[in-house]
Amino acid sequence: MTLSKSTQINNSKSAQKTEYTSIKNHKMIIDGQLVDSHGLDRIQIECPATKEIFATVPRGNNQDVNFAVKAASDAFRKWSLVEPRERGKLLLRIADAIENEIENLANIIAQETGNAIRTQARPEAKLVADIFRYFGGLGGELKGETIPLGENFLSYTRREPIGVVGAIIPWNAPVLLGALKIAPALCAGNTIVMKAAEDAPLGILRIAEICQNFIPKGVVNLITGFGEECGTPLIEHPHVRKISFTGSTGVGKLIMQAASERIVPVSLELGGKSPSIVYPDANEDWAVEGVMAAMRFTRQSQSCTAGSRLFLHEKIFDSFLEKLISKLKNLKIGDPLDEANDIGSLINRKQYSRVLNYIQEGMEHPSSELICGGMPPENGEMSKGYFTLPTIFSNTTNEWRLAKEEIFGPVLTAISWKDEENVIKMANDSHYGLAGYIWTHDIGKGLKTAHSLEAGWVQVNQGLGQMPGQSYGGVKQSGIGREFSLNGMLESFTQTKNVTVSLSTPS
Ligand code: NAI
Ligand code: MG
Repeated sequence: MTLSKSTQINNSKSAQKTEYTSIKNHKMIIDGQLVDSHGLDRIQIECPATKEIFATVPRGNNQDVNFAVKAASDAFRKWSLVEPRERGKLLLRIADAIENEIENLANIIAQETGNAIRTQARPEAKLVADIFRYFGGLGGELKGETIPLGENFLSYTRREPIGVVGAIIPWNAPVLLGALKIAPALCAGNTIVMKAAEDAPLGILRIAEICQNFIPKGVVNLITGFGEECGTPLIEHPHVRKISFTGSTGVGKLIMQAASERIVPVSLELGGKSPSIVYPDANEDWAVEGVMAAMRFTRQSQSCTAGSRLFLHEKIFDSFLEKLISKLKNLKIGDPLDEANDIGSLINRKQYSRVLNYIQEGMEHPSSELICGGMPPENGEMSKGYFTLPTIFSNTTNEWRLAKEEIFGPVLTAISWKDEENVIKMANDSHYGLAGYIWTHDIGKGLKTAHSLEAGWVQVNQGLGQMPGQSYGGVKQSGIGREFSLNGMLESFTQTKNVTVSLSTPS
């Protein structure tokens, strides 16, 4: 197959384009107040599409963490005693307020993450309103059970809140991933101290600010800072009773170690290297589009659920890839604030050089073949930001480093298969187990394969994002615990207490 220059680089500005904001110094939110850090230092926030600093946030430290955890501890009892449906109602009002601010949030997300506003940032902002609305309706579902010990007892369980939740989130879908912790934690009666990602703290800061208009002070605290300076003291804090983390598997292991010191429950949403398995009967446009969506190309594939190992049946290997490349050509890369663009930029210089190193290694590899994309141009519009090209290597094996490690960039490895049992074995031969995608008209085969995959979330004939209500989370080193759902809220943000009463009156 010949190397095709895929994907259009959009150098012209379309009429529909939002403007970049000028530099602004933000504060954190602790105990209902907008505050600076005790150290008074600041972190500069770079727009990855322009490489320009457009905001600063406080560089939070140990003292700020203590202040925030104290505020959350002080607010806990009173908040936990608010009737669950009443807490839910407050979340519904927050959802309405977020809905009134979709455009502002979309603009912030696009600027801080480099994610294209039309395909990513605006849908993320809308989903955040949905998430608050979904959990707002679940106050009445914090139910316990009665245990049949006989007529002389009343034995029942209560779903009680855990206490102060210490939450740490990453930058790839920062507002969504933050909302997925704040909304269920609050619905269940917990208070929260959340540390935003140093690369993209502004959207979730705005959400926390909106929350302050509806809930008591100290219930939601949002701190900004680096992992080791601000995240470590949070997870090690003796008054943090639950840790909820989304990010890399490496940091996830540190979180679990810290939690083991105090026997604190943890939820971890970590990395992935998810398989997309195409059967020979699905060599059609809809499957090609689904594989593109599953790979999250319009998010620069900075997604833990990216279907980044493409297993194509040998009969359709070349023809499917041809179709895929020709469709990728229709995507436009460029300014994330321009409505015309489908793809924005990677998050920062570190991730950019990491992804480029993988591409370089792929290009130098003797047997793998670069069939789409490759190194981004060194000059022109694309070099103004951390823009990359959708890239595909074919003739790779499942054992190759690029097919094993989470690249977190638009690098897809295509692997040929013949035998069903063998493709399932390859798909499961990974220390990750987050998502999986299967494409076939034979629904029986599709479902059997879905059941055979070692993954927390499998889709057949679609490559969509998560929807509220679906239990979402990983197996193996992709994590522990579930989010996005009623079950996730009950498992992750409540603890069960049994109460047993004797009904036999002493004579
Ligand atoms: P990271 O895991 O280092 O950062 C995520 C969050 O953890 C950030 O808020 C960070 O400040 C915090 N953190 C970092 N070190 C910490 C520590 N020692 N103690 C407490 N908190 C800490 O991820 P990073 O460095 O931004 O990205 C590196 C790789 O991680 C990516 O290439 C990707 O493979 C993976 N990743 C996976 C994500 C997912 O959604 N599963 C999200 C982001 C990154
Ligand atoms: Mg890191």
